[in-house]
Amino acid sequence: MNILLIGSGGREHAMACRIAGSNRCSTLFVAPGNAGTAHVDGCRNVNVDPMDFEALRQVVLENDVKMVVVGPEAPLVGGVADYFAASADLRDVMVIGPGREGAQLEGSKDFAKRFMQRHNIPTAAYRSFTADQAQEAAVFLSTLKAPYVLKADGLAAGKGVLIIDSLEEAQRELRAMLQGKFGQASAKVVVEQYLEGVELSVFVLTDGKHYKILPTAKDYKRIGEGDTGLNTGGMGSVSPVHFADKRFMQKVEERIVAPTVRGLSRDGIGYKGFIFAGLMAVTDKATGEMDPYVIEYNVRMGDPETESVFPRITSDVVELFEHTWRGTLHQVDLTVDQRAAACVMMVAGGYPEHYVKGKQITGVEDVKESMVFHAGTSRGTDGSLLTAGGRVLCVTSLSESVPAALLKSYQELAKISWEDCYFRRDIGQDLLKMMI
Ligand code: AMP
Ligand code: GLY
Repeated sequence: MNILLIGSGGREHAMACRIAGSNRCSTLFVAPGNAGTAHVDGCRNVNVDPMDFEALRQVVLENDVKMVVVGPEAPLVGGVADYFAASADLRDVMVIGPGREGAQLEGSKDFAKRFMQRHNIPTAAYRSFTADQAQEAAVFLSTLKAPYVLKADGLAAGKGVLIIDSLEEAQRELRAMLQGKFGQASAKVVVEQYLEGVELSVFVLTDGKHYKILPTAKDYKRIGEGDTGLNTGGMGSVSPVHFADKRFMQKVEERIVAPTVRGLSRDGIGYKGFIFAGLMAVTDKATGEMDPYVIEYNVRMGDPETESVFPRITSDVVELFEHTWRGTLHQVDLTVDQRAAACVMMVAGGYPEHYVKGKQITGVEDVKESMVFHAGTSRGTDGSLLTAGGRVLCVTSLSESVPAALLKSYQELAKISWEDCYFRRDIGQDLLKMMI
């Protein structure tokens, strides 16, 4: 069958490799894709904006597309799945991704917190406030201990979470948020308890009733080594996460995954797609055991976690998606490569602030031992590979352990260069220290 994948990042390139590699897939269209997806066997980029549902519809109808896989959150929160479900000629297209209501798990932090509270899913204590409650919000904030966690309710391009040490500054920022610092996204603000621990990402594919837990991963969000500096879209990831052992994952499944899927169903929210739980593993002082808490939900795969998780999935992903659509996910096995994966993101100098696009990239074809996923690339008129974004390329390796995979990625990445390229040299190092 023909399939359409929506998105244009490293996540989509990694997904495209697995989808187009399935013998159930004839042609994979990617809207809009990048220079990497254009190069995948059986893949074709279509120059369509992920938010232009009418144009997506045209691609689907003109190319007899039977399945649509949605990469990023914006079209999901914007209701792309509902749009397809509401059109008589698109209703049978298998859309992998939740409808607008389910996407609220990511689209509204307040919705997500209320959902977790209602279904007894462990998360930080919180309260939500609107502009008319600014006074109350300030009082509530002063009852908490530092650091203070302030979250814009809506989507704010990954910038809507502030963690602040001083109460005075937190009060000021809270006021600014309620007055529109993040526009409509911060018309409501979630103020929550700070959780001390180690983060990890858990991904679930669900048909609304059954689910498969995909390999765990950890991403590195800050631009600077040692997790310093500004937040980025993600500077690298590793999979699996060693401390997410059988016992920990049992807690994750019992306390988080199962109640989340059950909660959606009880709330009458049909959900066919990915759930990405950003977790904090918090050590219980009394028992010394790690307990998982939900920091946030996303309704899609993570980027750059997908670049280390998808290469480890050995099942036919198109078959998994077909079962997701039909509600029969329990009838199929998820198989995983037992090797570890590590990906390192190469970014443009200056990112995540000002950076220049259009730099010529060399050496990608010399990489033989690793996979190179394109995040922000394009082709020049002479066919040369150019930078076209802040995050440019992601180098992923599989090996017998996380340290071995990291070593391979760093060795291979050294073959690639462009003027002013930057990457973190310490991806995975925090986990390696924990292991010693
Ligand atoms: P989010 O956009 O919700 O993922 O938040 C961005 C980052 O803020 C997370 O990846 C965490 O590192 C941090 N964070 C969010 N909520 C909390 C919390 N309650 N306690 C500690 N850190 C948090
Ligand atoms: N890697 C975090 C995210 O995709 O939101």
